[in-house]
Amino acid sequence: MAVRVGKASDLQPGRIAGFLVDGKSVAVANVDARYFAFDDICTHRGCRLSEGPLEGIIVTCPCHASQFDVTNGGVVTGPATVAQDTFQVEIVGDELWVSTDAKPSPPAAETATSLLAQVALFAGLDSAALESLEAFTFRRRFGAKEVIVEEGRTGNGLYVVLSGRVEVVKGLGSATRQTVALLGPGEPFGEMALLGDWRRSASVVALEETECLGMDRWAFLTHLNRQPQLAIRILQLLAERLAKTNEKLIE
Ligand code: FES
Repeated sequence: MAVRVGKASDLQPGRIAGFLVDGKSVAVANVDARYFAFDDICTHRGCRLSEGPLEGIIVTCPCHASQFDVTNGGVVTGPATVAQDTFQVEIVGDELWVSTDAKPSPPAAETATSLLAQVALFAGLDSAALESLEAFTFRRRFGAKEVIVEEGRTGNGLYVVLSGRVEVVKGLGSATRQTVALLGPGEPFGEMALLGDWRRSASVVALEETECLGMDRWAFLTHLNRQPQLAIRILQLLAERLAKTNEKLIE
């Protein structure tokens, strides 16, 4: 998942800034209003590249002057011999979002079963249980900027992003609009709408042409009616998550 690291307008052209993203040191460079993210820790001996100068697309390590191409992390000049990892960076409004998630996009042939296994609500279900759910899934395409889920409305069910990217946003269309998360392939949203008629806490908008795997609540609940063992297993999973949440609250 992408993490918001700061405002794009705070990073002027020709400058680099260092951030901590999911426990990893990441540098973001502004090259003529194009933003590039890469591992902040030099592959030579671990100095911070964000403390070195940036000229065009070349950053120079402040310790032993290795140079790297910020657009692809490649070594331009040694002593370093290993390229820097690069990461996805995205601008939403004026917010900079960086993802260190190396998870590749799921290939088109990936089964609904393997995608459902990535949904927290189903984590721990065996493959037979997941396969029994696959029959209730459907695929749906959304155009860029299309609203998939609307805040305040009751939701019909779960989606998993197959391709493209979506923005989870609170206050869509208002002056207080705030991006909560950016989700890409393999990432689910709306799982709790499978279980109840609750209002959505945020809107979800397609940032580009996006395809999702979906599952409607009525189909899911009908299936649970026929499969009490599955319903009991899901109750146990929810109870385990509740217990973990309680433990964290006590800590
Ligand atoms: S630590 Fe970067 S060049 Fe040596």
